[in-house]
Parts: sequence; structure tokens; C-alpha cells
Amino acid sequence: MKLDTADQLSAITKMLHWLVAIFMIALLFAGVYMVETEAGWLYPWHKSFGFLLLFIVIVRVAWRIKNGWPSPVGQYSTIELSLSKFIHWLLILGTLLLPISGLLMSYYAGHGIDMFGLEVIGKNIDPENPEKAIAHSKALASFFHSVHHWSGYIIIAAVTLHVVGALKHHFVDKDETMKRML
Ligand code: HEM
Ligand code: HEM
Repeated sequence: MKLDTADQLSAITKMLHWLVAIFMIALLFAGVYMVETEAGWLYPWHKSFGFLLLFIVIVRVAWRIKNGWPSPVGQYSTIELSLSKFIHWLLILGTLLLPISGLLMSYYAGHGIDMFGLEVIGKNIDPENPEKAIAHSKALASFFHSVHHWSGYIIIAAVTLHVVGALKHHFVDKDETMKRML
């Protein structure tokens, strides 16, 4: 398998970056949209695609460990290098934390876990009202709900900075950073 070099990123790095990027951006938008507009129909899709993304993210993290981080294409200030490193770490951690906190929030709230209708963990049905679920732990469901909510908004800010940085490299510095990822 070909690893990244200073002037060329491997096909695996590029494929995993864009696959995760598209899924993440769509799920962030869908998450905020469904909460703000109470679009109940979107919840099962959000959860199923979020769960699916977790598997891709695990492959990506394994690839990062094997391959290391791509080295910068040019000479940049220490501040710029540290900021990009920090944001890359935040993005990778966010791509793990969001699906995991989402799954744990749903599990502890008693809603069970399924992917596109395929049941992984059954709903904890309330015998008095089979339409409803009984929480396994209200405290843990609420904790993971907060983690999901706050990490969602932190990652939206991080992705925005990341995209601004990528555009700066392409249009202001006019370097190879963006071309290397495309
Ligand atoms: C339109 C949106 C995006 C653009 C234009 C973009 C662009 C780029 C570019 C040019 C690089 C290479 C940086 C370098 O060589 O140092 C990069 C790396 C990276 N991007 Fe993005 N990106 C986007 C969205 C995202 C999203 C949504 C995530 C995750 C939530 C993400 C996570 C990362 C990470 C972790 C790296 C470090 C290298 C790697 O692990 O592959 N990006 N991105
Ligand atoms: C990488 C994957 C994911 C991303 C980026 C993501 C992102 C988001 C965002 C930004 C919100 C809105 C937060 C708010 O305004 O409070 C949200 C809400 C939600 N997410 Fe996710 N999510 C992901 C995966 C999951 C998974 C795997 C599940 C469950 C199996 C899940 C369940 C939920 C639920 C139930 C809500 C609504 C919470 C409420 O009603 O307040 N998410 N998600």
C-alpha cells in the first residue's frame, strides 16, 4: 500500500478524507436542522448514517496511525503549523466522539440502536405504552446528549476554520496544499 509523501498524498488518504468530510458536513447540517425544525422523520436517517460513518472513521484513524500525518507542503510560521495541527486533531477526535456519543445517548435513553432498520440493540419498550421507551439511565442519556450537542457545535467551528485555512492556502499562498488533497 502506498503511503503519503511530502508532495503526494496516497489515494487512501484522499478517499478517506473526502468520504468522511462529505458525511460529516451532511450529518452536522442534518443534526442541527432536525433539532431546530423538529423533523422527526430525519432522526432514523441521521442515526443510521452516523453509525455507518463510525466504521469508516475507525478505518481512517487506523490509517493515520500507520501512515502518520501528512507533512506540510512549504515553510509556515510556528503559529500556523500549531493551529493546523490542533484543528486536525480536533477534527479526528470529533469524528469519533460524535457518533459514539450519539449511540450512547440513544442507548441510555432506551431507544435502542439500529442501522437502516437492522436492529443491533432492541428498544427498551415501556410495557404500559409500547410506543414509548424507558431510559436505562436518564443521567447518562442526558450527559451524552450534552456531549453530542457541544461537540457538534465545536466541530462546526473547527470545520469552518479548516475550510478557511484550505482556501487561504489555495488562493492567498497559492501553494500545493489543496491540490495535493484533490
Ligand atoms: C469542503 C470541505 C473541506 C476542505 C476543502 C478540506 C481540505 C483539506 C485539505 C486541503 C487538507 C490537507 C491539509 C494538509 O496537507 O496539511 C485537509 C486535511 C484534513 N482534513 Fe479536510 N477539508 C474539508 C473538510 C473536512 C472535514 C469535514 C473534516 C472532518 C470533520 C476534515 C478533516 C481533515 C483532517 C483530519 C485532515 C488532516 C489530514 C488527514 O487526516 O487526512 N476535513 N483537508
Ligand atoms: C459523525 C456522526 C454524527 C454527527 C456529525 C452528528 C451531529 C449532530 C448534531 C450537530 C446534532 C444537533 C445537536 C443539537 O442541536 O443539539 C445532532 C443531534 C442528534 N444526533 Fe447526531 N450526529 C452524529 C451521529 C449520531 C448517531 C450515531 C446518533 C445515534 C445513534 C445520533 C443521534 C442524534 C440525536 C438523537 C440527535 C437529536 C438530539 C435532540 O433531539 O436534541 N447522532 N447530531
